[in-house]
Amino acid sequence: MRRLAKQRLPGPIFHYIDGAADDEVTYRRNTQAFEECDLVPNVLTGVESVDLSVTVMDRKLDMPIFCSPTALQRLFHHDGERAVARAAEKFGTMFGVSSLGTVSVEEIGTMIKTPKMFQFYFHKDRGLNNAMIESVKEAKFDVVALTVDTITGGNRERDLRTGFTSPPRLTLGSLMSFAMHPRWTIDYFTHEKFELSQLKDYVKEGSNIAVSVSEYFSTMLDQSMNWKDAEELRQNWGGQFCLKGVMSVADAKRAVDIGATAIMVSNHGGRQLDGSRTPFDQLSEIVDAVGDEIDVILDGGIRRGTHVLKALAAGAKACSGGRMYLYALAAAGQPGVERALNNMRTEIERDMKLMGVTKISQLNRNMLRYRSVC
Ligand SMILES: Cc1cc2nc3c(=O)[nH]c(=O)nc-3n(C[C@H](O)[C@H](O)[C@H](O)COP(=O)(O)O)c2cc1C
Repeated sequence: MRRLAKQRLPGPIFHYIDGAADDEVTYRRNTQAFEECDLVPNVLTGVESVDLSVTVMDRKLDMPIFCSPTALQRLFHHDGERAVARAAEKFGTMFGVSSLGTVSVEEIGTMIKTPKMFQFYFHKDRGLNNAMIESVKEAKFDVVALTVDTITGGNRERDLRTGFTSPPRLTLGSLMSFAMHPRWTIDYFTHEKFELSQLKDYVKEGSNIAVSVSEYFSTMLDQSMNWKDAEELRQNWGGQFCLKGVMSVADAKRAVDIGATAIMVSNHGGRQLDGSRTPFDQLSEIVDAVGDEIDVILDGGIRRGTHVLKALAAGAKACSGGRMYLYALAAAGQPGVERALNNMRTEIERDMKLMGVTKISQLNRNMLRYRSVC
């Protein structure tokens, strides 16, 4: 899927999806961490029917991985969020819509019946923050996830090199890249105008004024955001509330204190602080500290069904991923995302059988061996 996405997308857009911060060490480590842990299967357990469902944030999902919220999806494929939403619904899993999404939460709310997460970026503009919460309430979303790891923009050097902005800036370089990808270019210019649907009535940046995502984080988001703000947001929302981007045990405990119902253990897919620890390496200690009080979700690095099983065996309630469906969206729209989710579901089911389990709850730490202690 990655290879197809690379063929189909203009370079700056592909590298925005594929790239990460600094030397991309954390990005690579996010997946490698799973490879440093081995599964120990049991046999002769009778596995003809397998149940992949999990309950997370009070919602039942038919498979234990969901689509993390990601920005700018209509740049990757003209159907954007619509394609991912419909595919997620088909597979009975949750779909995360970004604050930097390109289809409105109203539309997504009426489009699909399966669980929906809204990812919240805490802006300096309090009017915008309140308006976003009101529209998410009206659209009957199930979860709000406040992203806490983008207090400033990560150093995404590929984006600096390619000059990637939202909306794409027309420079000599980008025009060349559009010309070399005519199918994408025709699709982009013959469909509805690009916009950041949740933000366009409040800020021009991103919809009409071209900015890099990193610049957007650094200038539009509120760097004074703190635990009190997070707690107030939870109260204002009043429903299932998740902090996305928690990595330390201390912060996981504070998430419990402010009444969050879940945390996503995540480093934003390696796109923010390079050199930071991976979600999988950090998962067990967080589960040991707060796993009985809050749902712990492992986000990032997942490319295989076995990665999901390892995270669940270590104690995660569910997993989530971005690139695992984004390459597929870019490659082929809704059918592509369906193929990616189907591959993932097939792998998880097969791997559960090979592990000798018929329910996710049967996965446990006795089935894991770590090759080296980090
Ligand atoms: C292209 C792209 C855009 C993203 N946009 C957002 C976003 O708008 N908000 C957010 O909280 N996380 C965003 N993320 C991070 C994802 O939600 C998720 O944490 C990350 O993709 C997990 O790593 P993985 O891609 O290895 O699965 C984005 C990730 C990618 C790759």
